[in-house]
Amino acid sequence: MKIIAGNWKMNGTRSDLTKMLCTLSNLDTANRIILCVPYTMLCGGNDVVSIGAQDISCHTHGAFTGEISAQMVAETGAKYTIIGHSECRAYHGDTNSTVRQKATLALANGLIPIICVGETMDEKQAGKTMAVIESGVRESIPSDVNTDIIVAYEPRWAIGAGLTPTPSEIAEAHTLIANTLSDMGLAGTPVLYGASVKGNNAAEIMSIPHVDGVLVGGASLKSDDFIPIITSVK
Ligand code: PGA
Repeated sequence: MKIIAGNWKMNGTRSDLTKMLCTLSNLDTANRIILCVPYTMLCGGNDVVSIGAQDISCHTHGAFTGEISAQMVAETGAKYTIIGHSECRAYHGDTNSTVRQKATLALANGLIPIICVGETMDEKQAGKTMAVIESGVRESIPSDVNTDIIVAYEPRWAIGAGLTPTPSEIAEAHTLIANTLSDMGLAGTPVLYGASVKGNNAAEIMSIPHVDGVLVGGASLKSDDFIPIITSVK
């Protein structure tokens, strides 16, 4: 069983989501399917697909115009939220510290956080990939986790770029994350790979040790692209 999570970013409509949920509900798969959609589309999903948000506020409530709290997401019936996605780190100033605050609020409200870590191209070229990944995991995850969380490794330079690291680079990153999680008392936490996952590379990526699933952006928007990823693994 693998976890196949889609991230629609700022794309799609409620009717697109209704169609996608209907199409995916006919799939015969043991994989866990999650769709992280814009706030206006949040709902309870169906028997085959769970729904998640793409971010939450690091505050519980108050004068934070435009922000959405973990409690607000949870009351829609959504079960997950991405936290610390590369685009939120780049455009909204998320840091490991704010990611940790958000993860704490997600957990307090019964949401499973999908916590993203990964290096930029500058960090990769400076030879800092492993250090950025390890500090991302150690600093973004709350210290008192005693329930499900998911971690996603997303090399930030590869997102939406049609680029992927080599299988050995993915293996090295995921082994480091698995070992770090184990050291933090979180052995067994699923670790997803994300960035330019498509139908033609999903099976190979998910055969790499410590890759427990994928986080898919562009290729999750259309069922013709998303279904081959879901059905590429048992
Ligand atoms: P991509 O996006 O699959 O379009 O590269 C991945 C992500 O941002 O989660």
